[in-house]
Amino acid sequence: MINISSKLPAVNNSIFSIMSALATEQRAINLSQGFPDFNCNPKLISLVNKYMKAGNNQYAPMPGVLSFREKIAEKIQELYQAEYHADEEITVTAGATQAIFTAIAAIIRPDDEVIAFDPSYDCYAPAVDLFGGIIKTVELKPENNFAVEWDKVKKLFSSKTRMIIINTPQNPCGKCFTDNDMQQLIKITQGTDIIILSDEVYEHILFDRKHISVCQYPELRERSFVVSSFGKTYHVTGWKIGYCAAPQRLTQEFRKIHQYQVFSVNTPLQMAINEFMKNKDELLALNDFFKEKMEFLYEGLKQTKFKPIRPQGTYFLLADYSAISDLDDISFTKEVTVQHKVASIPLSVFYKSKLDDHIIRFCFAKKKETLEKALEKLIKIDQLSSTL
Ligand SMILES: Cc1ncc(COP(=O)(O)O)c(C=O)c1O
Repeated sequence: MINISSKLPAVNNSIFSIMSALATEQRAINLSQGFPDFNCNPKLISLVNKYMKAGNNQYAPMPGVLSFREKIAEKIQELYQAEYHADEEITVTAGATQAIFTAIAAIIRPDDEVIAFDPSYDCYAPAVDLFGGIIKTVELKPENNFAVEWDKVKKLFSSKTRMIIINTPQNPCGKCFTDNDMQQLIKITQGTDIIILSDEVYEHILFDRKHISVCQYPELRERSFVVSSFGKTYHVTGWKIGYCAAPQRLTQEFRKIHQYQVFSVNTPLQMAINEFMKNKDELLALNDFFKEKMEFLYEGLKQTKFKPIRPQGTYFLLADYSAISDLDDISFTKEVTVQHKVASIPLSVFYKSKLDDHIIRFCFAKKKETLEKALEKLIKIDQLSSTL
């Protein structure tokens, strides 16, 4: 037997894979994993086809197709009035996941400390671990409306603090950073060498408010990697394409890893999205498109014994099930999938401490009829106990 000592011994199959597999096995409605069950705009597919047929099927330049990076820079300028040099400060990546991993790989050394806000998306901590870093988490609590308590962040600071990872709008709690949060971030990082990794993949999905990006603040822009995802924006999560915008010195280090990790990203997709982005209405319509779905699920859940929590952004909605069961949230989501055929995600998995407040997450990036069917089932749940 070859002895393999795992570099990530604590990592197992993610809850997203587990719940999606259970949903398939149980023929349940899958509101667990974060992807749409509807197709993207057919024009986007025709454009990919067009660029493939025209012979654009070889390696793209390492940082991405230049005209595409120019279009991304233009979008950032228009929305956030922040200047990024397309050639030196924007890199096209294989999804936001790669951008996050690459940024962490470029910065984090053994014993460096990284501050993150729980409940947090699952790809941050393993990447930090892999490079010997230590994750320090600040818990955002439902009873506090998931607000950041900046004094607690400050208390985690040490001479080893190297990075702060923020996510706005935040998956899974749907919370968005405010101008005050950004001002606090400026205040606590001033005069330090701390790098910010800002995961903004849901930048185009906010309800009744505007997205605030770190790049709008020069003091933050100069120390930040800003990450976004076309998968989330254009309903093509399976295409795994996103980007990282960062000042030249950070981008230089980012690309040293990027070029040996993926070298470059799918050429025809870059060209297709570039052309598709000319249609600015598509981006502008996204908030209303998802708001309608959010309101539908939110109002529907109000008719059930779940207590929904209204998100400010993202395509996720949390709901408290305390009135239905006292099972832990992992068991509860499994039981609901098996007994009532609706799959969701337990909130505790997003907390390093596994904090369980009897809250689960539903994804509403689904057709109206899917949400309708799910609600028909959820309304029937009165009490729930363990059968598994
Ligand atoms: C907060 C957050 N960041 C990053 C990602 C990954 O994005 P991508 O699919 O572009 O890698 C996701 C996907 O669910 C997410 O929710």
